[in-house]
Amino acid sequence: MKLVTCGLPYANGKAHIGHLRTYVPADVYVRYLRMAGEDVVFVCGSDCHGTPIVVNAEQQGLSPRELIDIYHNHFIKIFDALDIKFDYYGRTDAEYHHRRTAEIVSRLIDKGYIYPKEIMLAYCPKCKRFLPDRYVEGICPHCGAVARGDECDQGCGRHLEPGEIKEPRCKICGSKAEFRSQKHYFFKLTEFRDFLEDYLSSLKGTENALNYARNWVKNLRDWCITRNLEWGVRFPKEEGLVVYVWVDAPIGYISFTEKACEKKDCDWRKIWIDGEGEIIHFIGLDIVYHHCIFWPAMLKGADYTLPSAIVASGMVKVEGKTFSKSRGYVVWVEEDYLKSNLSPDYLRYYIVNYTSHQKDLNFSWDVFREKVNNEIIATLGNFLYRVLLFAWKNFGEVNMEGVDEEVIEKIKETEKKILTALEEWEFKIASDAFMELATYGNVYFQSAKPWELIKTDREAARKAVASCLQLAKALIIFAYPVMPRSMEKMARAMSLDIEHCRLSDAYSVDSVMKLDKPEVPFTKIEDDVIERLQKIMEKRFMGEKEKEEKEEVTIEDFQKLDIRIGKVLKAEKIKKSKKLIKLIVDIGDEQRQIVSGIAEDYKPEELEGKLVVVLANLRPAKFMGVESKGMILAAEKDGRAILLTPEKDVDPGTRVC
Ligand code: MSP
Ligand code: ZN
Repeated sequence: MKLVTCGLPYANGKAHIGHLRTYVPADVYVRYLRMAGEDVVFVCGSDCHGTPIVVNAEQQGLSPRELIDIYHNHFIKIFDALDIKFDYYGRTDAEYHHRRTAEIVSRLIDKGYIYPKEIMLAYCPKCKRFLPDRYVEGICPHCGAVARGDECDQGCGRHLEPGEIKEPRCKICGSKAEFRSQKHYFFKLTEFRDFLEDYLSSLKGTENALNYARNWVKNLRDWCITRNLEWGVRFPKEEGLVVYVWVDAPIGYISFTEKACEKKDCDWRKIWIDGEGEIIHFIGLDIVYHHCIFWPAMLKGADYTLPSAIVASGMVKVEGKTFSKSRGYVVWVEEDYLKSNLSPDYLRYYIVNYTSHQKDLNFSWDVFREKVNNEIIATLGNFLYRVLLFAWKNFGEVNMEGVDEEVIEKIKETEKKILTALEEWEFKIASDAFMELATYGNVYFQSAKPWELIKTDREAARKAVASCLQLAKALIIFAYPVMPRSMEKMARAMSLDIEHCRLSDAYSVDSVMKLDKPEVPFTKIEDDVIERLQKIMEKRFMGEKEKEEKEEVTIEDFQKLDIRIGKVLKAEKIKKSKKLIKLIVDIGDEQRQIVSGIAEDYKPEELEGKLVVVLANLRPAKFMGVESKGMILAAEKDGRAILLTPEKDVDPGTRVC
C-alpha cells in the first residue's frame, strides 16, 4: 500500500498554476502507480488555520469559516476541472482533524517533548494584542529583507520563530510594535538532531529537498508551537492558545487518510501506526523545512510512521519572472486558463513535461502554445487520429495477428523507461518516453504506407495497421495518466476500458480490435487565444508596475505641493450625486470649500470635526457645478476611500512635509 499526499492549499485564495506543480505531478504519479498494479491512497485537503486566513477574513468582513468555505469549494472545483482525483479531500477545520491533532499533541506533551517558556513577543500597544505570524511585519534577522512574522518570504526564505523579527510593526494598524513577555510552548526539536540526521540520510525523494534538509539539521532550535489566536486547534494544556498552523496542517495527512479509509477498503493504522507501506509527500520547494525537519520529528516523538519520500518540485515562474501575486506575475487557473476553454490535458502535460521536477518551471504562453501544437497535437494526436481513422475506414475490425516484434519491443522499452523515471520522480522523462513512442509510430506508419499497400496487398496492409493499432493502444495507455480526458476519448474508438487498464496491457495483443469512428483528439490552440492571454498578463504586470514605479521626483518637486492638516467644519452631500460631498475645511489661515468623492464611504456627520490631510494648492475645479479648491487625501482600497488623518492632534494649517 502506498499513501500519496499533496501539500495542503491554504483556503485563503484562488488556485494559480504554482499550486498545480504539486497537484498535477502527484496525480500523474498516482495514476501510473495504479496502472502498475499498486494499491494507492491519495489524499489532500484545505489548510484552514493560520494567521493569513484570520487576517484575510477580517479584512473582507467574513468569519474565517465563511472565507474558508469559499476557497475550499473553489479548490474542489479546480481539482475536478483538472482531473486531479483525490480519494479524500478534507479540511483541517473539521472535527475529526482537531481530534487527531489534539491526540498527537497530547502524546508529545505526555512524552515530555513539550515545555513552557516565557518569551518576548511582538505586541501592538494600539490594538492591545500580541501579534502572531502574519500580524507582524519587520526585518529578517538573518538577511535583512522585509519579512513577516513567521517567514522571510521575500528574502532568504527562512522560517522565523516568534520574537525573532526585527523592527516589528503591527500589520493591522501599522504601529510600531513593542516586545512583551508571554508564556508559550516549545517542542524539543533539538533532541531529535541525531534521529533526523540518521533519518535524512536514508529518506528518499528529490535531491533538492534532501540536500537542504541535511544542511539545516546541523542548526536546530526548539520550535515554538503555540500562538495567541482564537482560530485553530486548541492547545490542550492551556486556554487561549492554539497550536501553530504548521503543527496541525501536516497532521491532515493522517486525518484525511482516516477518512479515505472509511470510504475505501483500507486501514489507516496499518499505514500510520504499523508502518506497512510507504508514505510519499508531494510538496513545493518552499515548504521543505516543515516536511523534512518539523514533521518527521513530530511523528517520531508521537510514535507514528515516518514518510518514506519527500518529493519537492521546483518553483513556478511566469514569463521568466519570479511568481508573485502582488506583483501580477501569476496565472490563475480558473479565470485565465479554464475560462479560455483550454483543455486541462494541455496544462497537465506542460507542467510535467516542461522540465525536470526539481527545477524551476517557467510558464510562458508562447512555449505553451508551441508544446501543445508541436508535441501534443502534431506528434501524439496526429498519430492516434491517422491510425484510428484509417483502420476504422478501411477495416472496421482488425485481426491483430502478426503485430511486429519490433513494435512490441519498443512498447516494452517505453514501459520500462516510464517505470524507471517514476522511481526517480522524473515525470518529464516519463512523458518524453511516450512522446518518443508517438514519434516512432509516425515514422512507422509513414514508411509502412498502408494507404498504398491496401490497393495491392490487403493482408500486408492489415499487418501494418495491426502494428500501428498496437502502438496506438500503448500510447493511449501510457499517456492516460498525464492526459486522462483526451485518452479516454481515444480509448472509446477501440473500446478500450482505459480506467481499468494496466501498463502491461500496452503489449498484450488482442485477437481482434473493433473500431468506432475516432473523435479528433485535440484542438489546436489559436493564436488569438494566446494573444488575448498575453495581453491580460501584460496589463496585470503594467497595472502593478504603475503603482510601484512612478517617475522619480526631486525634493523640490515635492515642495511645490502645499499639503496641510485641515479640520472639517461642515459636510453635506451634493444633491443628485452618489459620490460627492461638499466640505468646508479650516486649513489654518482660511476656510476652504472642497468637493470630495467619498460619499459612498463616509457619512457627512462622520466627517464633521475630523482632521484630514489637504492638498491646498491644487488648481480649482468644479464638480456638478460646485467649486472645489483643494483635495482631501485618502488611501484607496478595493475601490473604497480611507481618509488619511494625523496620528496625534495638531492645529489646522500645520504643514505636511
Ligand atoms: N498550506 C501550506 C502547506 C501545508 S502542508 C501540510 C501551503 N499552502 S499553499 O497554498 O501555499 O501551497 C500549496 C502547495 O502548492 C504547496 O505544496 C506549495 O509548495 C505549492 N506551491 C504554491 N505556490 C508555488 C509556486 N509558485 N511554485 C511551485 N509550487 C508552489 O504551503
Ligand atoms: Zn531572511
